[in-house]
Amino acid sequence: EKGGYDHFMMKEMVEQPKAMMEALMGRCCDNGASFTGLKLDAEMMKHINRIQIVACGTAYHAGMVGKYYFEKFARISVETEAASEYRYKNPIVDENTLLIVISQSGETADTLAAIRLAKERGAWVLAVTNVVGSSIAREADDVIYTNAGPEIAVASTKAYVTQVGCMMLLASFLGNLNGKMKKEDAARICHGLMMTPGLIEKALDTQDVIKAFADRNYEIDDLFYMGRGVDLYTSMEGSLKLKEISYIHSEAYAAGELKHGPIALIEDGTIVVAVCTQENVFEKMLSNIKEVKARGAHVLAIVQAGHEDIASEVDEVWVIPEMDDDITAIPTIVYLQLLAYYLAVARGCDVDKPKNLAKSVTVE
Ligand code: M6R
Repeated sequence: EKGGYDHFMMKEMVEQPKAMMEALMGRCCDNGASFTGLKLDAEMMKHINRIQIVACGTAYHAGMVGKYYFEKFARISVETEAASEYRYKNPIVDENTLLIVISQSGETADTLAAIRLAKERGAWVLAVTNVVGSSIAREADDVIYTNAGPEIAVASTKAYVTQVGCMMLLASFLGNLNGKMKKEDAARICHGLMMTPGLIEKALDTQDVIKAFADRNYEIDDLFYMGRGVDLYTSMEGSLKLKEISYIHSEAYAAGELKHGPIALIEDGTIVVAVCTQENVFEKMLSNIKEVKARGAHVLAIVQAGHEDIASEVDEVWVIPEMDDDITAIPTIVYLQLLAYYLAVARGCDVDKPKNLAKSVTVE
């Protein structure tokens, strides 16, 4: 049932190109995304003055990417919050609120509680979930299925890339409804998204390099990630993946925040993964890399093709194919998933069933 792979996690990582295609199928158009069957329309959007995205864990990270693109393209301000925080803080939510929840399983207790609270106060609830007929799908007013196929491994992989894909489509959809998304951006994002299955394939092809890195470094106690803009969320998700399955202590920081404190933790030989896929902040990332290098960090930089010359500043470089900066969140996470996987395997961890973790958290 693992399709010949050692772990479900590997099987599911390999399934990501197909999962992405399924998520995009019939939804990706040049003039903006379309979602068949969605009740939310331009008329309803006129009454919406607040958008909240609520989720847990990996789905929360997809929600952060969602916020980034809703703001960038649809010029809609969004709050993204962990469901366990949202439900206990008397959130500001009313009949003019659109609540978007994201959940692979559709059964996460805190996310479900957030839906119930928001619905009681009259909000319109749109669920982005992978499981047809799940509690979250049933209780929401509208549903977008991620179509990733069943995910068995505790560490979410293919569900995440499809959640991020759906967030980008939704940004485009809402930007189209409110007229704020430029036509050329809509067409560019759609074109970029259609490239992601192939780009994920390319990421999967680099496994030997990633495994070799893991085999050289599996005895580390800590691993830091840093990024700016959307690379921060990719870093956070990479760091969560690593913690879950390898039990290596890890942190992900906004690169510009490091010097406000956490840089004190960097010692001689500490590995820092610098995710640098965004041209607009590339130079800023370079300065942050210099700062951690000055404290002895061993820096692994992830850059798009064309930036190979960063090699003179860092210890290792993984070059990803050149792509539109606005879709890097999808292929880049695959490199970090593989990194977490191979470090966990090298440490002899049970990748599919990490200790103390359940696939879905249906109780508090
Ligand atoms: O099923 P959900 O998407 O609601 O689950 C949310 C989190 O429990 C989940 O993403 C968790 O963080 C994963 N184990 C991450 O790999």
